[in-house]
Amino acid sequence: RGSIRLGLLGCGTVGGGVLELCAANARWLEGRVGAPLEVRRVLVRDPAKERVAACDPRWITTRPEDVVDDPEIDVVVEVMGGEGAALELVERAISAGKGVVTANKLLLAKHGPRLVDLAIARGTDLAFEGAVGGGIPIIRTLREAFASDWVERLAGIVNGTCNYVLGRMREGGLGLDAAVREAQAKGYAEADPSLDTGGHDAAHKLCVLAMLAFGARVPASALHVEGIEGIEERDHRYAERFGYVIKHLAIGRDFGDAIELRVHPTLIPKTSVLANVSGVLNAILLEGRALGPCMLYGRGAGDLPTAVSVVSDILDVGRSIVAGASGLLTRGIAMEPRPLKPQEDIET
Ligand code: NDP
Ligand code: HSE
Repeated sequence: RGSIRLGLLGCGTVGGGVLELCAANARWLEGRVGAPLEVRRVLVRDPAKERVAACDPRWITTRPEDVVDDPEIDVVVEVMGGEGAALELVERAISAGKGVVTANKLLLAKHGPRLVDLAIARGTDLAFEGAVGGGIPIIRTLREAFASDWVERLAGIVNGTCNYVLGRMREGGLGLDAAVREAQAKGYAEADPSLDTGGHDAAHKLCVLAMLAFGARVPASALHVEGIEGIEERDHRYAERFGYVIKHLAIGRDFGDAIELRVHPTLIPKTSVLANVSGVLNAILLEGRALGPCMLYGRGAGDLPTAVSVVSDILDVGRSIVAGASGLLTRGIAMEPRPLKPQEDIET
């Protein structure tokens, strides 16, 4: 066959990183897929906005149908964010039999199981490594490395903005708003940063992790969620005095008959590994019944780290298309719904 033809929905922080990485590593990527990657269209809101150098202005469109309804496009890469338009376009692309790569955890937390079912029914792939942990290969690890084991517990720092903001408050003496502005300038925060500071982004990611780790089909609205908005500089000082650091954690446990999922700030002993995960770094600890502990650590947000995950997904989906084996990635996601422990039974 010829090339793997890509259509991007969005060309902001992550989309720009994807185009840069595809351009910088074009020959290497072609060798890994068995066909060159060819960008065909890039959907944006504002065509006049300046884009990364790797974005050919001829690709730009403001008409979604140029991407999702073009029969020549093989893989749709959704990096626009949000729910409404993104959901409609992802559904349309999957229904048309295209492979879909997305970094949109909000979309997955709300509609992930249904989209997985749709992709399985349509025999195509839905890949979402960029949705959790930025550049950390946590989705692959759960989908592939843990495929033969049971995950009994997971705990981690999954929101780079919260971790960055807490660090700047603790070490730089900044207030919450000033620290959030810094995280926005670095491209870490969501378009609506209250998704980060309110704990919702971490909850969305925990839903995605729980889908893979525990086979859960749980909406984020059912989780116990606390953000970092109530934390003040003096809280950091008190924590420090008693030998602790405040970290924002996402925690999941499988009790066999039920699962527990929660997101909240936590006091962690200064000497623990998670306490020393600083800045935009994320770290996720998985406890397998047979494997025991396994920890992943790396940059949890930002253009190029996230682009590494998104482009790796494009390679996987492209390789499946070249091999005539589309749908294998998605079929690796087994979902066995189990009830969520009632929120009133959760001790934080
Ligand atoms: P940005 O806001 O930087 O980029 C969004 C892009 O999508 C822009 O190019 C925007 O167009 C376009 N867009 C948004 N809505 C529409 C629409 N309705 N129609 C057409 N184009 C639209 O977001 P990010 O790149 O930061 O995030 C994208 C996704 O990746 C989100 O789901 C986010 O949660 C996720 N993500 C982000 C990470 C990060 O570090 N930033 C890390 C991991 C995941 P225009 O440029 O014209 O405004
Ligand atoms: N806003 C998110 C974060 C982006 O700060 O972690 C990465 O998913």
